[in-house]
Amino acid sequence: MAVLPLIYAPHPVLDRPTTRISKVDSKIHKLIDDMIETMHANYGVGLAANQVGIPLRIAVIQGPDDIRPLIFINPEIVKREGRRELTEGCLSVPGYQGEVGRSVTVKVKAMDIDGRLFRIKAEGNLLAQALEHETDHLDGKLYVERLLNKDSIYKIERDLTNDEEDSNHTAPSAESR
Ligand code: CO
Repeated sequence: MAVLPLIYAPHPVLDRPTTRISKVDSKIHKLIDDMIETMHANYGVGLAANQVGIPLRIAVIQGPDDIRPLIFINPEIVKREGRRELTEGCLSVPGYQGEVGRSVTVKVKAMDIDGRLFRIKAEGNLLAQALEHETDHLDGKLYVERLLNKDSIYKIERDLTNDEEDSNHTAPSAESR
């Protein structure tokens, strides 16, 4: 496994829709392993493949309370309901947080690491937020396109050597994804 270099905005690979996977092979498995390691190394709650420069439709998500990462190949949101306002950050937009509009309930259809279809529903939690954030990435969108208004983004002071404790708690959720 390897920690991959992150791509920062602005960069075209973050702005373009990613390509669906037709076959889940050992190369894809290797990429997913590296994405998980990269997410952990950067204290992220999620990571999309284009954030490490690979324009494929793959995302990983692991909240602070999750024992293992969730893996999404070709994820698609099949249902959204409700609306809420949340604080959000992104590994590709370091040093900033913003207030965004998100759904309350999110249902996603995706393939797992064995190429089997599964569905997952999240409601009012960090996973629901992360599912929208990561599928946005894979559609070529950053959270800064979801700001409540143009002033809803601000700089944060962040010292990763000292705020690991904070990074592992989620209310209000301002984790980087
Ligand atoms: Co992000």
